[in-house]
Amino acid sequence: MKIKNGAVWKDTQGNILHAHGGYIIKYEDMYYWYGENRLDNIYVSCYSSKDLVNWTFCNHVLTADSKAEEIRVRTDLRLRNEEGKKVNIERPKVLYHRESGRFVMWMHYENGKDYCCAAAAVATCDTPTGDFVYHGSFNPYGYMSRDCTLFEDNGRAYFLSSSRDNADMHMYLLQDDFMNIERLIAAFWQGEYREAPALVKKDDMYYLFTSFCTGWAPNQGKYAKTDCLEKGFGKMKEIGDETTYHSQPAFILKLKGKETVSYIYVGDRWNGENYHDSRYVWYPLIFHENGDVELVECKELDIDVETGRIRY
Ligand code: DGJ
Repeated sequence: MKIKNGAVWKDTQGNILHAHGGYIIKYEDMYYWYGENRLDNIYVSCYSSKDLVNWTFCNHVLTADSKAEEIRVRTDLRLRNEEGKKVNIERPKVLYHRESGRFVMWMHYENGKDYCCAAAAVATCDTPTGDFVYHGSFNPYGYMSRDCTLFEDNGRAYFLSSSRDNADMHMYLLQDDFMNIERLIAAFWQGEYREAPALVKKDDMYYLFTSFCTGWAPNQGKYAKTDCLEKGFGKMKEIGDETTYHSQPAFILKLKGKETVSYIYVGDRWNGENYHDSRYVWYPLIFHENGDVELVECKELDIDVETGRIRY
């Protein structure tokens, strides 16, 4: 089953697949891909797949008309601005919370006019593909929070986001129910302006991939690693070329098959002039024995979900 990097990807109904800046989870033998869709009143769309190549459209899970419901956190519940126009919902990420049976989405919120809100937002649903209920946006402990990701490790969930006008990276531990932030556990890379965080764990080591800040234009990707999230991440190393092979990180897909585990970098190839024509690239990540990580540029990626093997 092959993926064609940078091509127009269509869903199983032949419609263009819109899941930009997204995230994939596996739940009961099915993969679910959530991502940005800026058409009409839509914010986030969800697709399902068993083979990671053929994607079936499931639902526009968050729209400007989604139901909004208060939670214990005081938030701004508006999904449209004062002019009735759409806001910006970016980089939606979803985790399944086992105890409550809820799918919890965290994302980046802006008011649709400027990028000054720099807020985190939360939505939930009882099923992976149902209509998510919006619970509003807020600034964690008053901090700015832009490009973001979620990460789960041993039942604990973390939210990472670019803060202080993108100058610093923040990592927060979420509360047990994933519905609020517990505390800021690390602030790092101060003044290094990293965005598009994507975190993965391999052999007790955590690897965080990010981009620099150049709007929609791709730039030099970097990564750093740590053996303990609370320590933060040390000095970064470059990965890929000066455009990260024409992409920006969305997330890292850890593919666990019967024979092996493969790591796939899922990147957005944005089109700044026509956002809706933004594409996707899925590149292998190779973890070398000397500790370096390599991003492999390839035209096609052959994925076998059964064995976990990828070929390029
Ligand atoms: C880069 C970010 O990573 C994207 O999510 C988006 O916010 C663009 N900037 C907007 O210019």
